[in-house]
This record gives sequence, C-alpha cells and structure tokens, in this order.
Amino acid sequence: MQKIENISLGKNKSNSKTALSYLKRKKKSLPTKYLYDEKGSNLFEKICNTEEYYLTRTEQKILNKYSAEIISYTKVKEFLELGSGSSKKTKILLMNALEQNAFMNYSSLDISEKALKMSFNELESISKKLKINLYKGDFLHDLNNLPSSKNNRLFLFLGSTLGNFDDDTAIKLLKEVEKKMNKNDFFLLGVDKIKDEKVITSAYNDKQGYTKQFNLNILNVINKKYNLNFNQENFNHHALYNQTKSQVEMYLESIRKQNVMLPDDNILSLAEGEKILTEISRKFSDETLSMLLKKSSLRKIKSYSDNKKYFTLYLLKSTKYF
Ligand SMILES: C[S@@+](CC[C@H](N)C(=O)[O-])C[C@H]1O[C@@H](n2cnc3c(N)ncnc32)[C@H](O)[C@@H]1O
Repeated sequence: MQKIENISLGKNKSNSKTALSYLKRKKKSLPTKYLYDEKGSNLFEKICNTEEYYLTRTEQKILNKYSAEIISYTKVKEFLELGSGSSKKTKILLMNALEQNAFMNYSSLDISEKALKMSFNELESISKKLKINLYKGDFLHDLNNLPSSKNNRLFLFLGSTLGNFDDDTAIKLLKEVEKKMNKNDFFLLGVDKIKDEKVITSAYNDKQGYTKQFNLNILNVINKKYNLNFNQENFNHHALYNQTKSQVEMYLESIRKQNVMLPDDNILSLAEGEKILTEISRKFSDETLSMLLKKSSLRKIKSYSDNKKYFTLYLLKSTKYF
C-alpha cells in the first residue's frame, strides 16, 4: 500500500472548538467533512451506486464520452484531485491520459484515509506508467501544503463537492486552486444542475436507507472525536430541497427532547423536532456558477453535459494568463 502523507500535521488545533461552536448556535449544524470517516466513505460509495443517486452515473457518462477530448485538448501530464473519494470516475480520465502520455502523476487529497485507500486500490494496477501520491488533509485549509509541480496539471474537483459550500467558502476554495494554477494548467470542475425537484430529493432519500445511515454516522464520528454521547436512535434523517436557495439540506432531526453532554461540561439541549444541519448540496444555474467563477478569477474554456443537462463538467483556466 502506498504511504499516505498527512499534510495537516500540527494544523487546525482549534477544530474541536469550532465544531462544537456550530452545535451551540441557534441554527445548529456540523461540518460536512465529519460525514467521511471509514464507515462514511464506505456508505458514500453505496449511495453512489443507488438507483436514485443520478449524480455519479451522469458524471461518469459525461467522462466516458469526453475524457479523450479533454486529455488531448489539455495535454496534461499530471492530475491533482481534491476530495477524490474512490477515484472511480477519475480512472476514466487517467486511462485516456495514459494512452496519450509516457508517464502520469496522480495526486489525491482527501480528508478520509479510507477514501485514499480506495483510490489507491482502484488505480494501482492500471499501469506501471502511473505514479500515485496520497495526501490526507482538508482542502479548505491545506492546499498550500501540497508540493508544487513543473508538469502541466489538471486540477480535479468532481462529484459536485463544491455544492457543499456557501458562496463565500466556495469562492475562497476556488481562488486557492486558481492561485496554484500555472499557465498550462487546467481545472475540471463537476457540478450538479437545477432540475426537477422530485429527481433531486429522491437522490438524498434512497430506498435502501444508505443516505440515512450516512447522515446518522456523523454522530458516531463526533462522539469519538470529542467524547460526546449522541444517541443515533434519538434522530431521524431529513433531507429536503430548499427551492429558494436551490439546495438540498440534510438534517438530523431530534425525535424527542434530549440533552447531550459537551466536553466543557455544558449541556446541549435539543427540543423535539429540532434539527442539526449536516450537509447542503447546491444545485447550480449557469448564472450562479459564472458568478462564482468570475469572483475566483477562473475562466470557462469548455463545458460538457449529459443530454438531460443534469450535470456539467466545466474546463477552466486561470484568468491571470489571458
Ligand atoms: C461528495 S464526495 C465526492 C467523492 C468523489 N470526488 C466523487 O466524485 O465521487 C466528497 C469527497 O470529498 C472528501 N472531503 C469532504 N470534505 C473534505 C475536506 N474538507 N477536505 C478534503 N476532503 C474532503 C470526502 O472524504 C469525499 O471523498
């Protein structure tokens, strides 16, 4: 197994304070990244394979159709992927890149060690010409701890992970990527688009209940991390589409009045029906995405969609080279 390099070492010491402070607010929430421990990453893979979760299937179809074109157009020799998950879709691009290059470098940055292991298992046997680097870290804080490169790079941010962030955070993240981009680098960004509400909500309420388990698992993660005593049985999974904000909001809803002990000896009281927000999944219009790109100094070069226009991959460059 390839060594995983931790690029967050000694950083984010205030994490615990921040995570718990979200729970103390009037509108309670938890950082989405805590959905992804070993169990969360396994469950996310299962969600991707459900009938309802159209996102993965659709993005994969687009990549099957356009990967060869993307690779010959960009002429990249190296990939750097943020939040790679299992890299199953990235494999399609890499196979094409390996046909067109004598050698390829692939770097994955993910917060979940399990995701990095899955990524390695997915890619290790595809070619001796492929070098894999695994980085454990937070793409919101640790991008500057990644090594630079002289190769032409393709930055990847797939799976509509951008949709987990509000405008300010999304722009901050996109700007950080843009700052790392050299003249011949490209950025491939995959985002979910606005569509029929029923199609969207069913993707976050699959019949097999994997999304429910995924959502509830965040309580185990923070129980372990901060020595709390949340009881999963006291919560329901609740995912709805907020049309005004064009986003799915995933909550844990308290099914009874309950108290949870916090490490600072404070008690967190939850009323029956009170909700904790665990994830937003934004659905983008072309206008919103153009605004985010403009504010992040990124320019659209090409875009690739499926027939139903459910999902779009944007190929971007930094505006500093125009
Ligand atoms: C929605 S999944 C997408 C996975 C994959 N890119 C795909 O398209 O299927 C989000 C991925 O980002 C990772 N992730 C979430 N928050 C992160 C953070 N703050 N820093 C680094 N990785 C993060 C998760 O572990 C997970 O693998």
